Amino acid sequence: MAKRLRHKRWLITSRTISESQTEALSMCMWARPVILGWSICVWLCSASTLHAQALIVAHRGASRDAPENTLASFTLAWEQQADAIEGDFYLTRDRRIVCIHDATTERVSSVNLPVAQCTLDDLRQLDVGSWKAAGFAGAKIPTLPEVLDCVPKSKQVFIEIKCGPEIIPTLQTDLQASSLQPDQTAIISFNAEVIEAAKRAMPERPAYWLVKFDKDESTGRWLPTCDKVIHTASRIGADGVDLAGDVEAVDQAFVSRCGQAGLSVHVWTIDDVRRAEQFQRLGVDSITTNRPRELRKALSKPSPLPAPVPTLHPVAQPTNSSGATPR
Ligand code: G3P
Ligand code: CA
Repeated sequence: MAKRLRHKRWLITSRTISESQTEALSMCMWARPVILGWSICVWLCSASTLHAQALIVAHRGASRDAPENTLASFTLAWEQQADAIEGDFYLTRDRRIVCIHDATTERVSSVNLPVAQCTLDDLRQLDVGSWKAAGFAGAKIPTLPEVLDCVPKSKQVFIEIKCGPEIIPTLQTDLQASSLQPDQTAIISFNAEVIEAAKRAMPERPAYWLVKFDKDESTGRWLPTCDKVIHTASRIGADGVDLAGDVEAVDQAFVSRCGQAGLSVHVWTIDDVRRAEQFQRLGVDSITTNRPRELRKALSKPSPLPAPVPTLHPVAQPTNSSGATPR
């Protein structure tokens, strides 16, 4: 689906309005109204698809307002109009998959336990809500099946695997037992081996390789390079890349090249509305945020339209200061 959408974008991008103009002007005068109408259609089509709405993914749920990776946070994300939720997952000693970000429980509870060496029952004793606010006292670490159960029919979940490929058989069992469709469950991980193993075991489920960037101070280049990202993602069979949202590292060329390579492009974690708008204009498929409500408000506005065509363009440019089409 994402690949098809990208293909559509490339088709539209490759056929510019100025090409249309050239063709139109070289034809007879009587054909002008027909060509004018056609140009308007192309322009409207471009306006609505080049800046297609990016999905809003609630990072650890609506985690600015609720304790991360809890059912309270995920439920709030749906109330805040997120398209998807993102959560972090580990395998416990008794082979249950639990939702927590760190390898230990210290940051989100009053006790410090290593998640991978605990049983589910050990972890269930903990209160992982009070650290955020008293109103969330008693919140428990959820299991993956509980998280899957809270995903509505038209929404998605990004399942970030924080451990190694040893989680894959249990992940497959939990996903198979869920009523969610394969395209509602995206598997994401920084660990390339996990993505490779996930795609091998569950080719029908989307999997995106997570990438963060470092600047090489001696050359000023951001690493890994776009070439390297595309090469690795393709080698492991990823359907897309989920990139740290650094606007210096991830520019239009980066996003376009990934699209041409058949990869969907996702970015995290963007809480600044301007930056989210910037990424949406680059054409990313999803934006992960701690503030789904604010991004929904900002990104749901009609996208800024392309520059007018001087001679054939009959429609007035938007005049408000944000550049968005007036409602
Ligand atoms: O969505 C990807 C993002 O969550 C990766 O970073 O540390 O928040 O898990 P982290
Ligand atoms: Ca995460």
